[in-house]
Amino acid sequence: MKVLILFSTRDGQTREIAAALASEMKEQALDVDMVNMHRAEAIDWQSYDGVVIGASIRYGRFHSSLDSFVKKHQQSLKQLPGAFYSVNLVARKPEKCTPQTNSYTRKFLLNSPWQPDRCAVFAGALRYPRYKWYDRVMIRLIMKMTGGETDTSKEVVYTDWQQVASFAREIAQLVRK
Ligand SMILES: Cc1cc2nc3c(=O)[nH]c(=O)nc-3n(C[C@H](O)[C@H](O)[C@H](O)COP(=O)(O)O)c2cc1C
Repeated sequence: MKVLILFSTRDGQTREIAAALASEMKEQALDVDMVNMHRAEAIDWQSYDGVVIGASIRYGRFHSSLDSFVKKHQQSLKQLPGAFYSVNLVARKPEKCTPQTNSYTRKFLLNSPWQPDRCAVFAGALRYPRYKWYDRVMIRLIMKMTGGETDTSKEVVYTDWQQVASFAREIAQLVRK
């Protein structure tokens, strides 16, 4: 059985999470293809038994290609067991890390024509040294306002890799059903 993982990333964390999901699914004896959603061309939907879409948040929004991809492929997506995960920094807070309490994810699910069978919210990474000047200033301001890390020499990964692995096992179960 084969699962397609599509990811939309700006700085790579959503891809790293996709890779961790893929690795755990392979442990569960599934085949996995990982595809960058921004470069996805013709997808052979017939060859998959499940689909996962992951996307990150920047300045309050997912990349616009998420909505357009889901809209364009909704018929194919609806035929397969499906999972969605979002990646953002507010999810580092326990009260904002579920699909119901994470406003970006809740909004996506409310408006999406595709309703995934499973959904997760993962805390992402804060990588000050890699950001352009403006982004660094803005993120630092947001971190200051929300009680987060403000030392711009730091890179902090908030992703809970156990949570990622357990989501992969949930998806494996779903696909096998
Ligand atoms: C310029 C910029 C803007 C961001 N805006 C938000 C935001 O509005 N809300 C949030 O929770 N996280 C925000 N983040 C955090 C990202 O979602 C987080 O770094 C995530 O790991 C990025 O995933 P990616 O590397 O796959 O793009 C922002 C990060 C950057 C660099």
